[in-house]
Amino acid sequence: MEAIRPPTQKIVDDLIDKMLDGPKPADLVEAFALPVPSLVISELLGVPYDDHDFFQSNSKAIINRDTPGEERVAARQRLADYLGGLLEEKLAHPREDLLSMLAERINAGELTRQEATEMGVLMLFAGHETTANMITLGALALLQHPDQLALLRDSDDAKLIASAVDELLRYLTITHGGLRRVALEDIEIAGQVIRAGEGIIPVNETANRDPSLFPDPDRLDLTRGARRHVTFGYGIHQCLGQPLARMELQVVYPALLRRIPTLALAVDLEEIPFKHDGFVYGAYELPVTW
Ligand code: HEM
Repeated sequence: MEAIRPPTQKIVDDLIDKMLDGPKPADLVEAFALPVPSLVISELLGVPYDDHDFFQSNSKAIINRDTPGEERVAARQRLADYLGGLLEEKLAHPREDLLSMLAERINAGELTRQEATEMGVLMLFAGHETTANMITLGALALLQHPDQLALLRDSDDAKLIASAVDELLRYLTITHGGLRRVALEDIEIAGQVIRAGEGIIPVNETANRDPSLFPDPDRLDLTRGARRHVTFGYGIHQCLGQPLARMELQVVYPALLRRIPTLALAVDLEEIPFKHDGFVYGAYELPVTW
């Protein structure tokens, strides 16, 4: 991830240049929050960014709570067909990217085509909606907390920047879907016995506001050191992309605040269309000016 920090910085800077050259107000989601992670994950996987309309609309259909079941399956299938086709290309002409690495595993007999395709699909769709929502809501949270915004904008301390990103991840906990777990053996949690085979849905947004771990949890405090949050889940299936997401956000927020010091909301908070219908919380639009 450190190796792709400089190209990520370039993607971020170019998008800010473009936004500054364009009309005001601008929609931060469209102009910045979506393209940053989309461009980064496309480059990492070796997916042509020119196809972004196709993979963004299908990813949206997968994670939108209101999508009917058959349409969700169909959207996933369209992405699988697309990725399957790209994998064939990488089998024949490998490059320096993640899909080519998956293709190598197919050649080595370690993965089936279907397994490699599924992994590609998961990384493609998990890799942009989530981070895009964090960029949008993180920017909004900072605009609402000018003292915290100033702290982050004026600091060159990599540790503070990392801590700020983790605090925003904790404070916003954009993954509202409820993680699902099944007990492998009888286990007692806070006096409640969960029998082997029973399921639980840990509510990570509540865990992230646990005052015994995060004193005064409703306060956004970029210096608190919130790394023990569970926004990326917990256990062996916790988010595979978290080092990527952290790196992207560590690049994004300081760049946005320093390059556009007069960044401000262009509408009232009440007018922002929030995503109440997705597994991942965010905003459909964030009109900003400067
Ligand atoms: C701010 C951004 C992100 C958030 C908040 C987030 C959150 C999550 C959460 C809560 C889970 C479920 C973990 C569990 O069940 O314990 C997960 C899984 C996953 N995420 Fe992310 N994610 C983010 C970004 C990314 C990115 C950039 C990628 C791309 C490469 C990615 C790839 C994955 C994958 C592949 C899994 C499944 C892991 C497994 O089942 O073993 N995520 N993510």
